[in-house]
Amino acid sequence: MTAPWRAGVLSLFPEMFPGPLGHSLAGRALERGLWALEARDIRAFATDRHRTVDDTPFGGGAGMVMRPDILDAALASLADGRPAICLTPRGRPLTQDRVRRLAAGPGVVLLCGRYEGIDQRVIDARALEEISIGDYVLSGGEPAAMVLLDACVRLLPGVMGAAASAEEESFAAGLLEYPHYTRPAEWNGRRVPDVLLSGHHQAVADWRRAEAERITRERRPDLWAAHTRTVEPGLRRASVAVAPAAP
Ligand SMILES: C[S@@+](CC[C@H](N)C(=O)[O-])C[C@H]1O[C@@H](n2cnc3c(N)ncnc32)[C@H](O)[C@@H]1O
Repeated sequence: MTAPWRAGVLSLFPEMFPGPLGHSLAGRALERGLWALEARDIRAFATDRHRTVDDTPFGGGAGMVMRPDILDAALASLADGRPAICLTPRGRPLTQDRVRRLAAGPGVVLLCGRYEGIDQRVIDARALEEISIGDYVLSGGEPAAMVLLDACVRLLPGVMGAAASAEEESFAAGLLEYPHYTRPAEWNGRRVPDVLLSGHHQAVADWRRAEAERITRERRPDLWAAHTRTVEPGLRRASVAVAPAAP
C-alpha cells in the first residue's frame, strides 16, 4: 500500500481536530488510512514556565503577535519536505487548482494563527506559503485549515465513490457548476427543465454547459474573464450563442 497523504497541523487548539473532518467522507477516509492527521499543540514548544507563545507588537497597536522562535520550533518538528502553509486573510486565495496540486503531493503542514497574527520573520525564514480561504476575518486559522484539508482529502484516490466525479464539479473547467434536479419531476408547481427528462444526452450536455456558462458569467465575472481567455474563440462563440449574456 502506498503511504497515505499526511496532514500536520500546528495550532493552539489541537483538540479541535479532526472535528468535522472526522465525519462523512473525510472521516471514513481517515479511518481507512487514506490520509493521516497529526495536530500538534504550539504551546508545547514554549520555553517559559507560563508556556507563552505571543507578545505585544513592536510599533504598538492592538492585540498580540505569535512569536517567531516558538513557531519555528513547532514547524521544525514537522518539517519533512511537505509544503508548509500559513493560513492568513492576507494570503493568496485558495483555489481548486491549488487544492488539486496539494492533493497530488505528499501532504501539507498547516500553521494556524491566532490573535493579531504571526511574526513575519518566521513566515520569511521558513518560506511559508500564505493562503486565505476568503475575504473575511476568522478568529483563528483552524476553520481555514479544515476547509483546506476537506477540499484536498476528497480528491485523494479512493476517497470519493465512483459515482461522484471531480471532473464535472465547479471550477473543474474554470466554470461554476450547472443546477441539479431530482424527483419529483414537479414540486410545488415547479417543473424540472424538459431537456433533462428528454433522454437526449447531447441536448442535456449542451444545456448543462450553457447553464454553467450563464451562472459563471452572472456571478463570477473574474472566472468568466479567465475562462473566455483560455477557451478557443470559435468554441466560445458557439456556446455563448446558446446562452445570451445577462443584461
Ligand atoms: C483574527 S485573525 C488575524 C487577522 C489579522 N490581524 C488581519 O487583519 O489580517 C487570527 C488568525 O485567523 C486566521 N484567519 C483569519 N481569517 C482567515 C482567512 N480568511 N483565511 C485564512 N486564515 C484566516 C489566521 O491564521 C490569522 O492569523
